[in-house]
This record gives sequence, structure tokens and C-alpha cells, in this order.
Amino acid sequence: MNLIRNAGLAAAAALAIARPALAAEPTVAATPPMGWNSWNHFAARIDHATVRAQADAMAANGMREAGYRYINIDDGWQGQRDPAGAIHPNDRFPDMKALADYVHSKGLKLGIYSSPGPKTCAGFEGSQGHEVQDAQTYAAWGVDYLKYDLCSLGPAMIAAGSIEKAQAIELAAYRKMSAALRATRRPIVYSLCQYGFDQVWRWGGSVGGNLWRTTGDIEDKYPRMAEIGFGQAGLSKYAKPGQWNDPDMLEVGNGGMNPTEYRTHMSLWALLAAPLLAGNDLSRMNPDALAILTNRDVISIDQDPAGQQGDRVRAEGPLELWVKPLAGGGKAVGLFNRSDLPAEMAVDFAELGVSGPVRTRDVWSGQDLGPIHSYQATVPAHGVVLLRLSS
Ligand code: GAL
Repeated sequence: MNLIRNAGLAAAAALAIARPALAAEPTVAATPPMGWNSWNHFAARIDHATVRAQADAMAANGMREAGYRYINIDDGWQGQRDPAGAIHPNDRFPDMKALADYVHSKGLKLGIYSSPGPKTCAGFEGSQGHEVQDAQTYAAWGVDYLKYDLCSLGPAMIAAGSIEKAQAIELAAYRKMSAALRATRRPIVYSLCQYGFDQVWRWGGSVGGNLWRTTGDIEDKYPRMAEIGFGQAGLSKYAKPGQWNDPDMLEVGNGGMNPTEYRTHMSLWALLAAPLLAGNDLSRMNPDALAILTNRDVISIDQDPAGQQGDRVRAEGPLELWVKPLAGGGKAVGLFNRSDLPAEMAVDFAELGVSGPVRTRDVWSGQDLGPIHSYQATVPAHGVVLLRLSS
């Protein structure tokens, strides 16, 4: 009897121990964050009226309904610290709490930016030595997202004299802010920005990051976007719900690429399960850009609940095939032509482990292709055909 009872207790104890070990559902960033960030278009020329205008646009133009949520202020909002050390916004942001309330009233969330060093990259006040105080200030304002950019911590890391010591400084700094944010008990997405140094994808999650930049800055030019996006090959195993690789913000709508190239940009980011942070001026957007940013089929590939990042399956010169596994056994497939001329591309679905014909949707044309077992098409220069294969 005792034996049975003990066995029961042991089983219950084992269960109790096992339960917390089961992957806890991420409370923030269960799918890659979607929103807008000020930097790509406005850089440090940002003010509260511009931010309000972005929130107004997102709430009115269909982006909110398509899943976009965060209105993120990047570098340039900071003013001075008061004698007690509390950070205040500069005079272009007269009332940060009122701004957060306004963004929240639109059904959206507010993001902000700082650095673990003494100064940010644009020379504004950083958080070093004020981490707990800053996290509390952000939470009191109603901030929902923090991008934490290495910037001026770099020199202290170099002065440390060895890679190990430099990394210890960096990890401690990122952990410190993570703990400070957690202590506020407000769910705040934590975005690490250190440009992909030191294989951040291997440790970004362990310091509390929900996403981490894997590269230097994007530019609104096809060669740089392609270098960054296609350069993500091999990183898929490091992403999962709550922890995402971040190949930087979108340039869609900023004018430096043509619509074909912007569709490539958006398709690649969706296959990469990348954060979708629009980087254009949402209040003056052309219909092409809006259609690209709000294509529901593309967004559903990015936001697929399985949270599996896609990866490159093959590259033959400039012709690349990328695949993202989807929940329920479907697949998203991108046929990319990186060359400067149109090219014939083909894929036999057997190559992707798909047996038999499957219903297939050409995402950008919106055409259902019926059950097929292979596909071929002429893909435009710098273009893509993005397919969604049913299970
Ligand atoms: C860079 C960062 C950019 C932007 C900028 C602000 O280091 O990669 O995304 O945040 O700083 O100064």
C-alpha cells in the first residue's frame, strides 16, 4: 500500500518538477513583433506629432487589422537626467505618458530605444548606471517595447582586452536591463541590437532577448537588403516563439527599391520569421507599399504559429530556393532570382519532401493553382515567386 502511495507521490512529484520545464508560453513576441520604427525614414528627426501621425495612419489604413501593433520611437527622444537621475524626454516629446496613452487608445503599443552604454549611437543619453530607474520610468509611461542598442558600450568592451572579457561585459549589460524590465512586471518586448556580433543568435535568448539584430544596418537599396536577407541562411535553428532573429527593419515604401524588389524584401522577411517593422512614413504611403505591407498571405507566413524560421534549400548561382515549414505540415516556398535579368526557375515538390500533388497558392498574384507536384515560372530580375503549399 505504502509502496503504491509512494509511487503515486513520486509520480506527482515528477509531474510537478516536469511542469515548469515544459516550455512556458511566451507572454510577449509569441510570433515575430509587427509594427513601425522611426529610424529608417526619420532618423533622429523625430517628434511626438510625427509619432502620433504614424499611430493614426496604422489605425486607419488597415495595418492594425493586418496585425501591426508597435509604434517604436528609435534614437532621438531623450533629453537630460534630473538631479535624482530620472531620464526626461527632450522638448520634441513634451509628455511621454500622454503619447503612450494616445497610442494605446488606437489599439496599438509604444516602443522606445536606449543603450547599455553612457550614450546612444546618435549621442543621446544612454542607460548605463540607470538601468533599474529607466526601466521603471518606461513602465510608468506605459512603454511596451525596448530596443537596446550597444553603441557606446563598444569602447569599454574593446578596452577589456580579450574577447572573453568583452563578451562578459556585454552579456552582463544585456542581462541587467532584462532583469530591470522583468522587475517592472509590465510585459515589455526586449530587442537586442548589437549588429550580430559574437554569434548573438546563440546567446540572445539566454540574456532575456525576445529578438536580436543579426546584422549591421539595412539601407533602402536592393544590394544591401539582399546582402542582409540572403545572408541569414543557416540561422533558422536559433529562432523560436519568444526569441527571434532580427535582420533589421523594413524599407518598403521608402522609395529606393522598385515594387518587385520590395516584394522580394517582404517575402524574404516573412520566410525568415523576421520582425515586420515598417520603416517608412505611414502617413504618406503609396498604394503599392501599403499593398505589400498588408498582404495577408505573406503576413500569415511570417506569423505562422509554429514559429519556425525558413532557410535556404539550394542556391544555383543567383537562383535561390527558400522554404519555411508551417504549422499543420504546409510549407512556404520562395523562388528568388537575384540576377539582373529574368530567369526560368523550377521546383519539384518531391525535393521538399512533399509526396503527391498539393494545393498551392501563388501568394503575390493571389491565384490558387490547384493540386500540383511541381512548379516553374519566369521570375523577374531581383524578383520572387512566393508559394504556399497546403499540407
Ligand atoms: C544603430 C542601429 C539603428 C538605429 C541607430 C540609432 O546602431 O543599428 O537601427 O537604432 O543606431 O542611432
